[in-house]
Amino acid sequence: MKRNTLILAAGKSTRMKSKKSKVLHEILGKSSLAYVVDLAHDIDSDEIFVIVSPQEENIQLLFGEELNYVTQLQQLGTGDAVASAAPFLEDGTTLVLYGDVPCLRQESLLDLFDFHEEQGNDLSILSVEMKDPTGYGRIVRDALGVMAIVEHRDASEEQCEIREINSGILLMNTELLKMYITELTPSNVQGELYLTDLVEIFRRAGHKVDAMRIDEEEQIVGINTRRQLAEATRIMQQRVNTYWMENGVTLINPDTIFIEESVEIEPDVVIWPGTFLKGETHISTDCEIGPEVTLDSTFVGVGTRILRSTVMQAEIGDNTQVGPYTYIRPNSVIGDNCRIGDFVEIKNSSVGSGTKVSHLTYVGDADLGEDINVGCGVVFVNYDGKLKQRSVIEDGVFLGCNTNIVAPLKVETGAYVAAGTTLTEDVPKDSLAIGRSRVTIKTNWRNKQGE
Ligand code: UD1
Ligand code: CA
Repeated sequence: MKRNTLILAAGKSTRMKSKKSKVLHEILGKSSLAYVVDLAHDIDSDEIFVIVSPQEENIQLLFGEELNYVTQLQQLGTGDAVASAAPFLEDGTTLVLYGDVPCLRQESLLDLFDFHEEQGNDLSILSVEMKDPTGYGRIVRDALGVMAIVEHRDASEEQCEIREINSGILLMNTELLKMYITELTPSNVQGELYLTDLVEIFRRAGHKVDAMRIDEEEQIVGINTRRQLAEATRIMQQRVNTYWMENGVTLINPDTIFIEESVEIEPDVVIWPGTFLKGETHISTDCEIGPEVTLDSTFVGVGTRILRSTVMQAEIGDNTQVGPYTYIRPNSVIGDNCRIGDFVEIKNSSVGSGTKVSHLTYVGDADLGEDINVGCGVVFVNYDGKLKQRSVIEDGVFLGCNTNIVAPLKVETGAYVAAGTTLTEDVPKDSLAIGRSRVTIKTNWRNKQGE
């Protein structure tokens, strides 16, 4: 007996008005389909089948080999999509999920499995009572359970009044599914094969069909339009933010804070408005992040403060201050007790503990030691038009304002580089490097101009 899960992802996405399939549109950094695939894994499906259209075969590349892919040659409706996978299904149960319904919770599916078994159903539907059921299939009940699902477009005025709707999630006996799926006909307004017509076919043949109602309307929002995409983003944002607030994180005006599912935050972190936390970001305890910070796959140590800055694929130590207006790019490692200030860009570089890069500086392809002072307006000249080269600045060095460090070179421990120097050679330990022309002063010059 196999637990099959089918994920329908071959639809035309007309209402999204997009080049790409609606199931690939992202909600907090993750596609709608990826949420549904994760759900299918979480409920321990034996086999997962994704139904894709011939135009979207790149879905296979995105989701890898552990799923089965079935191409639905023509988009003839949800019934046709399931029919195209039916020959590959082994007996047991088949759960149908929609690739455009990403906010569903795992508990709801586990409850549906229990409901299916306890009621002895042949087909179970996950349904929701909706305030505004416009656009959804209506659940038509009778004394025996559910007798039909009627699509909004095909519903009578009276049926339109029904507020219990089909989430699209169905669980059924696989043998019966394979037996009846061939009986669907396109006799409806859209001329499609509706999977939902299985309800009437099952009932006519004397099988038991019932619907399990869940309370939380937001779980079944379908991503058919850009407005629904925004709605799903809001739902996921609230879920993630609520989770972190329940786990000791302060969010100031959470509606303006976007945290992807993959992020980890320790207790007693404060996050200010306008902040985006993405990818594999980890924030340690006692940090203060924001306002207006974007962190992408970045590790932040204990007690660090980041203000109005962007940091990507970097590591920042403990008790360091970053910002405002700092840009830290991939492969950068910043130590403890550092100060990285306004309009500083750091790329592919390491900065040792206690080092200060306070303003208006570019550090590219360099290794800076500890307790260095980098003055205002320093430029690491890392690119000669052909090659990117590295520089090394050792512990305790003082780089004066407006110096250019022309790579590759090394400034040894304790050395000084005077302001305005364009440095093109190595500086030995404890030395002073000064490279600038002397100033000439011509006294009373102005008055002589008129002579
Ligand atoms: C469907 C249900 C409706 C339910 C609603 C919930 C049917 C006939 N209607 O309507 O009862 O209330 O979902 O969101 O099932 N797809 C394919 N191949 C196709 C057509 C669709 O794979 O030929 C896929 C789509 O990519 C999508 C899913 O099936 O992921 C649902 O299709 P969609 O067109 O969005 O159905 P709805 O009109 O929303
Ligand atoms: Ca839909």
